[in-house]
Amino acid sequence: MSSTVYLNGEYVPYAEAKIPVEDRAFLFADGIYEVVRVYGGRPFDLEPHLERLARSARELRLPAPDTGELIRVTHELIQRNGLGEGTVYYQVTRGVHAPRAHAFPAGAVEPTVLVLTHALPPEALAENERRRHEGVTGITVPEQRWARCDIKSVSLLPNVLAKQQAAEQGAYEALFVRDGFVIEGSSSNLFAVIDGAIVTYPACNNILNGIARQRVIRDARKLGYTVREQGIPLEALTRCQELFVTSTTAEVMPLVAVDGRAIGDGKVGPVVRALQEAYRAATRA
Ligand SMILES: Cc1ncc(COP(=O)(O)O)c(C=O)c1O
Repeated sequence: MSSTVYLNGEYVPYAEAKIPVEDRAFLFADGIYEVVRVYGGRPFDLEPHLERLARSARELRLPAPDTGELIRVTHELIQRNGLGEGTVYYQVTRGVHAPRAHAFPAGAVEPTVLVLTHALPPEALAENERRRHEGVTGITVPEQRWARCDIKSVSLLPNVLAKQQAAEQGAYEALFVRDGFVIEGSSSNLFAVIDGAIVTYPACNNILNGIARQRVIRDARKLGYTVREQGIPLEALTRCQELFVTSTTAEVMPLVAVDGRAIGDGKVGPVVRALQEAYRAATRA
């Protein structure tokens, strides 16, 4: 838990950071967020994350906080909280609205801007490392989200329910199936290796265009792989050679079985290993 958080322009002790009960994120999930990974005290891919936050704000007509200020806040919090390995969480909401009403408040909106950090303890880091080495399992679930999954909104109930279902079935991730295609995970993007090429759903309104996804696509092309941004049909899961998900916190995570059926030979494959290595090298650079 962070000892200092940034709330609406001020650095305050965690226990003293208070948000009014009629904040619109509490009432309507009317807000956006970002998560940035910190390696060795340095934020990784900070700019693309903050650009995506600004885009999410524009798409929802939220007043976007100044990116330069958020960069300064990020470094200040990492320093104040002595963060080595961990994450920085950003949330922007459409502020306080009383009495509650669906339409935007009349007049200028005073957004709630929160930034906090979380340290990743050595046990959590080791567990993630073990998962990346051995591979994890997934389940498929029907898509139940809205038509703007490209916006990183805090309205995450279908994602929460899908992840819970995965957890209850002993799986790591739930993969959403829309119109016969497996499009992304509840908190990750999906990639398959099919006939030697890497396939991932195209960036559009149906998925969040992950920052890790974009990096992995660039890495894969640099390594000479063919990357096709197209849908992965549900039935292709049984004939793909490798399957993996990506996210800021999971990095490149191999899936060795989905819905109880092995992917490829049920072991982590060479494409995943190469992409894990490239990702790790970038985090160390
Ligand atoms: C639905 C969804 N897709 C994909 C991702 C991966 O995004 P990123 O690589 O930016 O962490 C996330 C991360 O939270 C997510 O919630």
